[in-house]
Amino acid sequence: MKDKISKISEELEQLVAESHEQLEQLRIRFLSKKGQIPALFADFRNVAPEQRKEIGLALNTLKQKAAEKITELKNMLDQTNALKSSDTDLTKPAEELNIGSRHPISLVRNRITGIFQNIGFNISDGPEMEDDWHNFSALNFPPEHPARDMQDTFFIEKGKDYSQQVALRTHTSSVQVRVMESSSPPIRTLSPGRVFRNEAISARSHCIFHQVEGLYVDKGVSFADLKQTLYYFAREMFGEETKIRFRPSYFPFTEPSAEMDISCILCKGEGCNVCKYTGWLEIMGCGMVDPTVLKNCGIDPEVYSGYAFGMGIERIAMMLYSVRDIRYFFENDARFLKQFTSAF
Ligand code: PHE
Repeated sequence: MKDKISKISEELEQLVAESHEQLEQLRIRFLSKKGQIPALFADFRNVAPEQRKEIGLALNTLKQKAAEKITELKNMLDQTNALKSSDTDLTKPAEELNIGSRHPISLVRNRITGIFQNIGFNISDGPEMEDDWHNFSALNFPPEHPARDMQDTFFIEKGKDYSQQVALRTHTSSVQVRVMESSSPPIRTLSPGRVFRNEAISARSHCIFHQVEGLYVDKGVSFADLKQTLYYFAREMFGEETKIRFRPSYFPFTEPSAEMDISCILCKGEGCNVCKYTGWLEIMGCGMVDPTVLKNCGIDPEVYSGYAFGMGIERIAMMLYSVRDIRYFFENDARFLKQFTSAF
């Protein structure tokens, strides 16, 4: 009897059923009235009384084991059937993850800074909320000077006199003041960042935009260095054939000052509606750092000279990608943003 019980027990462990019919056969074989386990129960009366306790226990355990095995096999069959009948195709490739993309302004900024970093410029950063000294006074904007109106300013605190004012920076030239104050020449630095001007929002202008400004201060820096560096930049950024030209301009912090144009990247100078049929696109302001600014920042203008330049990233991005409205850059519409994969 004992042998029979352990044999059936082992058999139960090996059981498999590929269909519900097979499973039913197994149930009949082990558990139905004429099955092997009830047959053992029928034989129980022949067991010697001193063995009854032990064998009775073993028999009940076996019966339970058989019932559990049958239920387990049934559950497995139900599960595979459910998978088979659903639409899930387990061989299908996984769905692509929606991983987002770099913002076009970041792409263009990285491209601009990368070009200058290759020739030894480093990156400097500063606060977006500035005091009057760093945004204006150190840069040679005298109090009440009309040049302050060139940059419509968002004031946070309007003190009684200029020195107490706090404003959102109107350009990242403020960062360059901080760099000159805290280090000594040679200085080759780029300050990319967000700037703010109280301007009406339209397709062409926004009250928030981004700039990259550059500064080089050393012994013997001349306008020729400025010109050659910007020429190198223009060719790297817009292509080998790009031409540049300088027009006289005015900034309080540079003397002489200029606007730099590049030959139109669309029509190559022949005239089109992007360059308004002039063949040229205005790209940036630049000039030789005014000696007063160097002095304000603790640098001896008798020993050192420098050049500076500054450009708007949105303007350049609009030209490169043919984007007609600056507001697209700030709307965070993924359908717009995901179109940009490189700065070209
Ligand atoms: N700071 C100027 C602006 O925001 C740009 C500029 C920088 C011009 C450096 C000349 C030299 O308009």
